[in-house]
Amino acid sequence: MAQATFHFPRGFLWGTATAAHQVEGGNTNNNWYAWEQEPGRILNGEKSGLACDWWGGRWREDFQRAADGGQNTHRLSVEWSRIQPTPDRWDETALDRYLEMVRALTEMGMMPMVTLHHFSDPLWLMEKGGWENPAVAGYFETFVRRVVETLKDYVSMWCTINEPNVYATMGYVMGVFPPGKKDVAAYSRVTYNMVRGHAAAYRAIHALQPQARVGTAINYRSMVPAKGWFPPDHWVTRVQSALYNDAFARALQDGWVRLPLARKRVAEAKGTHDFIGVNYYTRDLVSFNLLKAGDLFSRRTYRSEAELSTTGFIANEPEGMFEAIKWARQFNVPIIITENGVEDPEDRLRPRYLAQHLQQVWRAVNFNWPVKGYYHWSLVDNFEWERGWSQRFGLWELNVETQARVKRASVDFFADVCRENGLSADMVARYAPEVFAQLFPN
Ligand code: FCB
Repeated sequence: MAQATFHFPRGFLWGTATAAHQVEGGNTNNNWYAWEQEPGRILNGEKSGLACDWWGGRWREDFQRAADGGQNTHRLSVEWSRIQPTPDRWDETALDRYLEMVRALTEMGMMPMVTLHHFSDPLWLMEKGGWENPAVAGYFETFVRRVVETLKDYVSMWCTINEPNVYATMGYVMGVFPPGKKDVAAYSRVTYNMVRGHAAAYRAIHALQPQARVGTAINYRSMVPAKGWFPPDHWVTRVQSALYNDAFARALQDGWVRLPLARKRVAEAKGTHDFIGVNYYTRDLVSFNLLKAGDLFSRRTYRSEAELSTTGFIANEPEGMFEAIKWARQFNVPIIITENGVEDPEDRLRPRYLAQHLQQVWRAVNFNWPVKGYYHWSLVDNFEWERGWSQRFGLWELNVETQARVKRASVDFFADVCRENGLSADMVARYAPEVFAQLFPN
């Protein structure tokens, strides 16, 4: 057996990521709460309810679990609808609560990374047209200023918008996130305004905190033409990947938003990322399909041999992680894996998924590519949007009724990685022996 350790650079960030609506509970003033009340919107009619009861105070015990697990950072988000319940009111208690949370993280030895927008929007904003309304960039900037003024003694890593590409695609093309539209023109408006909102936030944060590091988290899907010999599959893969993976990050690089059938200038967005956050989960096979005009003539599937997660949501394709990092290099800024993980209530696939994906991150690090950290999604099982509680992404299992946390084997595995700042042959032999020979060949 080969004995080796895949070491990571000194100071590498190891943590988990969460999002306010998914963990806090009781967020009744946002578009997701309203969506959960509509029949047929969430699988099995489930609701976020108390979620992980962070707003009831359980954030502290979960942060302790992360700290005990050797993590040196945590990525969390703040809920706009709590902080600014109506356009003319700030909720100081909510701001104080977030301050308490980021202070506690710091005291526990975990650097907070704060996401300012993670899918959920205040109801008042949606009444004004949400991200379709050009005024949203200004509203977002005002909100961001208030948050940064409050948290800046403890936070200097900011993620403005989580997965703008998922938000726009799911809410405005697929219609499965609120507001449930299938309208490419609306999708384009939302994407354009999110670029403007990000740019406004970037400048506001730097004005308040010159040393801040500001970026976004892009959902990168690896895409491969389904039939290598069929030019239309290549063409549609290129088009899809350019829109889905590239458009947002390129806009922050050069100030041009490339939308379906149009290009729009947002001069103030040029050069507005200090790092690029990459959320990588899986890889798609893309084929050209004339019947799918609404999906820009494409159909996505997984390789038939691929190993799938419990509900079939994710195919385990670790090489896509390497490809995602390679892709992110074009932006010439530090790269952070802001999310990666798999839904797996029984924790059968997660250990090897984790080992295989970390090996790919390590490969990239070995080329001296500037990867600075890895956040696993997620710390504890949480409310998985339109898929409700059917998908379990936590290192820790959550019993939603009793709020009990139950340790999965992956908790100890990830803790070993964080403490060692590396992935060793011993760890793989212990937690994911089935991929040992693949990861550590003789
Ligand atoms: C990402 C989201 C995150 C969670 C994971 C599984 O797209 O950012 O909130 O839903 O997927």
